[in-house]
Amino acid sequence: MINIAIFASGSGSNAENIANYFKDHSDIKVKLIVTNNPKAFVLERAKKLGIETLKFNRDEFYNSEKLVDQLKSQEIHFLVLAGFMWLVPAYLVKAYPQQIVNIHPALLPKFGGKGMYGDHVHNAVAAAGEKETGITIHYVNERYDEGDIIFQAKCNVENLNPDQIAEQVHQLEYKHYPKVIEMCVEDLI
Ligand code: GAR
Repeated sequence: MINIAIFASGSGSNAENIANYFKDHSDIKVKLIVTNNPKAFVLERAKKLGIETLKFNRDEFYNSEKLVDQLKSQEIHFLVLAGFMWLVPAYLVKAYPQQIVNIHPALLPKFGGKGMYGDHVHNAVAAAGEKETGITIHYVNERYDEGDIIFQAKCNVENLNPDQIAEQVHQLEYKHYPKVIEMCVEDLI
């Protein structure tokens, strides 16, 4: 069994969708949901799903490496960022080389980098009058949104407002992210 930890900072609708996708999977299990935000709604979702959770603060995340020990002791093999808003530190990238993936709600390299997350991205896409946007799933390195791209999908957003764009992008995320994770993880088996 390959065990996954999902990192999320907020609502966690992707985390829930991924957990449901792998619920009865023979090789892959969502074993842990990890957050930097003690008030994140993803913790409620984890409770409902019966998935164990782990919380950390900024100091623990950036000034110690104890998270690696916690993940390894739970036999976590693969990390999935799903709405996780902090930059991943180098020690974690080194501990999980090409074993951390992220989803970004736009077509990188457009609308990526520091400060470009969640609704900020959709507002920027609307303000730029983009005809299309989409999702990018990529491996994670020490820089925001710069790891190797694994998969992209597009949607038409001509004349849509930021809320409508967010809705289109979320639908793409729900459809593709679990399958792309499955593909990446099956490469490890
Ligand atoms: C998702 O749209 C995800 O792509 C985005 O945050 C949202 C989280 O939604 N991630 C980023 O912006 C990372 N830079 P969710 O909490 O409902 O899954």
